[in-house]
Amino acid sequence: MNTLGIDARAQCYLPVQSVAQLQAVQQDAVLSAMPRLVLGGGSNLLLTRDFEGLVLHMANLGMEIAGESDSHVMVRAQAGESWHGLVQWTLAQGIPGLENLSLIPGSVGASPIQNIGAYGAELADFFHSLTAFDFSTGELLTLTREDCAFGYRDSVFKHRLRDRAVILDVSFALPKQWQANLKYAELSAELEVQGITNPLATDISAAVIAIRRRKLPDPAIIGNAGSFFKNPVVSAQQQSALLVLHPQLVSYVQKDGSFKLAAGWLIDQCGWKGKSLGAAGVHETQALVLVNRGGASGQEVLQLAARIREDVALRFGVMLETEPVIV
Ligand code: EPU
Repeated sequence: MNTLGIDARAQCYLPVQSVAQLQAVQQDAVLSAMPRLVLGGGSNLLLTRDFEGLVLHMANLGMEIAGESDSHVMVRAQAGESWHGLVQWTLAQGIPGLENLSLIPGSVGASPIQNIGAYGAELADFFHSLTAFDFSTGELLTLTREDCAFGYRDSVFKHRLRDRAVILDVSFALPKQWQANLKYAELSAELEVQGITNPLATDISAAVIAIRRRKLPDPAIIGNAGSFFKNPVVSAQQQSALLVLHPQLVSYVQKDGSFKLAAGWLIDQCGWKGKSLGAAGVHETQALVLVNRGGASGQEVLQLAARIREDVALRFGVMLETEPVIV
């Protein structure tokens, strides 16, 4: 149940299909006192030990067109649906918008927590609202985009509502006036290679899938949790100082004038690409992805991550932050 393929056990496990089950847990003296882990697709999770607590595995299903305005189509999906399944379903309904986010592993319910993003788009661009169960009150909450406080791989669910809210369903507002989003250079290059000049949303989805298959390891074949580190954000001053020392530095200017550095490039420069420490390794074509080469323990992955962070800090003076939830 975790895409890194780490062997760990939970003391208690409950597949969740309804709010009534969450209410029952909340009202049960023993279960409500236990540490909780809400599990979606398990694709952004590093287990370093057995979990002495209750795992709530979101398994509620359903996707629907929930309405429309003059400008938008509203789509609602239950937390237990797979993210990529939702993207494909919307495209099959003739509703474009989510195509740049094709093939991201994980579930719909987990998608707002880290504000999933790829190839020039992020969930926040299409998010309308969500329903969550509040464990502190037993009530249902409706949260808008503002309430969710989305940032780069960040949201209120990593802060104020951490360990408190369980996401039940997510609603998206997809603009009727669709425009291809080709601002990610690698994506436009892929379409050019394919000879497509006026891509449909389905063409973009196919191109994103092709890039992802080429660059990112398939968790069904080799255990991984996608990017293991966030791309660090540094000041303009630090970026220009680094550029003097490392003219090839890969960086992208942000709206506020700071710079995002490509963590994959930093790790690659430290010579880690393709290397291993025990059964934990660094992927051959994308150094940002740590892999389980077979039978790795969570501790081994953590040790490898620590070595990488040390090397990057020593060489570039930048501290990498891990992306997956570490338990
Ligand atoms: N690079 C290297 N060596 C590497 C890896 C990357 O030199 O081993 C360089 C690339 O050549 C490129 C730059 O670093 O110039 C950025 O690489 P890439 O386009 O692959 O994107 P990324 O910044 O490494 C981010 C997301 C991915 C997302 C891609 C595409 C984060 C932490 N990761 O990766 O998201 O798919 O952009 O938009 O923001 C994830 O979060 O799990 C994830 C896979």
